[in-house]
Amino acid sequence: MTQVDQDKWNKRYQQNSLEPRAARVLMDNLHLLPRQGSALDLACGLGGNALLLAERGLSVEAWDLSPVAIDKLTHQARDLPIQARTVDINVTSLPVNQFDVIVVSYFLERRLAPAIIDALRPNGLLFYQTFNQNQCGRGPTNPAWRLQDNELLRLFKPLSVRYYREEGMTGDAQAIRDEALLVAQKILSPG
Ligand SMILES: C[S@@+](CC[C@H](N)C(=O)[O-])C[C@H]1O[C@@H](n2cnc3c(N)ncnc32)[C@H](O)[C@@H]1O
Repeated sequence: MTQVDQDKWNKRYQQNSLEPRAARVLMDNLHLLPRQGSALDLACGLGGNALLLAERGLSVEAWDLSPVAIDKLTHQARDLPIQARTVDINVTSLPVNQFDVIVVSYFLERRLAPAIIDALRPNGLLFYQTFNQNQCGRGPTNPAWRLQDNELLRLFKPLSVRYYREEGMTGDAQAIRDEALLVAQKILSPG
């Protein structure tokens, strides 16, 4: 982390107009969630995913670089089972075999993929959604911070795919042109 990154995100989250919003990959697949267990909203921002997971009965950790976002989430969480922490994921290791659910939305740090897989418990679910290379006026302009075609499938190849959506420029304007959405599960092979 550089101080510059933290300052940038703090400034963004100081705007009162921003509201926590859960990612579509989670909202469209709520039926896949376990009824209880532990979850991580990684790079949670204002914690839209964390709030939804906690409302659904999961015990949630929410990690983000921005203390401003974490303070706002802590305030909004009230009595919900959410532990929100200021964490720089570049210097803090993910715990192994810890979470039944991990959600990552609009954050891409490719080298973390093996650690995210290790952090899932057996049968644990990963919900991932972020921008791909089709720039439609949203998200980072640096192409390195956007997924290549089908890249989530490659990054999380050891997991079993439960849901995948990436429509690119195919079809009409209803398509999700600039994002990829993945739900994948950690199935341990017998023996
Ligand atoms: C585009 S926002 C997405 C926030 C949230 N997941 C959402 O969907 O609204 C990216 C988030 O990543 C966080 N972030 C960036 N670098 C980070 C790091 N090294 N460790 C933890 N969080 C980081 C930022 O503070 C920011 O909240």
